[in-house]
Amino acid sequence: MAVRRTDRLPEPSPHGDTDAMRILLTSSSRHGSTDEVGAAIAQELRAAGHDVDQSHPEDVTDVAGYDAFVLGSAVYMTRWTAEAIDFTQRFSESLHSHPVWAFSVGLSGLPKGKVSDPHRIGPVLLSIDPEDHATFPGRFNPAELSLRERSIARMGGASEGDFLDLDAVRAWADKIAQDLAAR
Ligand SMILES: Cc1cc2nc3c(=O)[nH]c(=O)nc-3n(C[C@H](O)[C@H](O)[C@H](O)COP(=O)(O)O)c2cc1C
Repeated sequence: MAVRRTDRLPEPSPHGDTDAMRILLTSSSRHGSTDEVGAAIAQELRAAGHDVDQSHPEDVTDVAGYDAFVLGSAVYMTRWTAEAIDFTQRFSESLHSHPVWAFSVGLSGLPKGKVSDPHRIGPVLLSIDPEDHATFPGRFNPAELSLRERSIARMGGASEGDFLDLDAVRAWADKIAQDLAAR
C-alpha cells in the first residue's frame, strides 16, 4: 500500500484547531498489515484535526518540527524490525523530549508468555518510554511468505488467518487524540 512521505508541507487543520499537532507515525511492515494499522491510526488522528505524516522508519532522515510520535512495528521473532529499532536509536533525543506512543502488530492471539507473545518485545519499549504501548493482532497468510518465514512462524505456533481488528485500532487512536487534547 502507498505510504505518505514526510516531505510534504503541513496542511491547515480542517477544523481550524489551533491545538493541532504535527505527528510523525512510522510503521515498519514486511507484509503490509502494520502499514494498514498505521494508516487507520493516522486517519483517526487526522479526523481529530492533527497533521499526520506516515512513513516507513528507514525513509525518515529528519524529525525536526514534529510535536509527537507514534511508532509501530510488526513483531518478528519476538522483536520489532531492525528498521524500527534503528529509528528509535537514530532519533532517541527527539523521542525523549516529545510524547511517543508505540504499537506492535503480531499474532497477539498467542498465549501470553510464549516465545511469540508480542508483549515480550521489552527492550526497545523501555528505551523509548512511551505514553502507552498497544499490541494488535495482525495477519498470517502463508501464501505471502517465503518458505523460511512459513516454517519459523509455524514453529512459533502461529495460526493462519487475518486477525486485524481496525475498530480496536481506531479506539486506541481516539485515546491518543484525547490525551493530546488534554495537554
Ligand atoms: C517469520 C515470522 C515470525 C513471526 N514472529 C512473530 C513473533 O515473534 N511474535 C508475534 O506475535 N508474531 C510473529 N509473527 C506474526 C507477524 O507479526 C504477523 O503476521 C504480522 O501481522 C506481520 O506484520 P506485517 O504484515 O506488517 O509484516 C511472525 C510471522 C512470521 C512470518
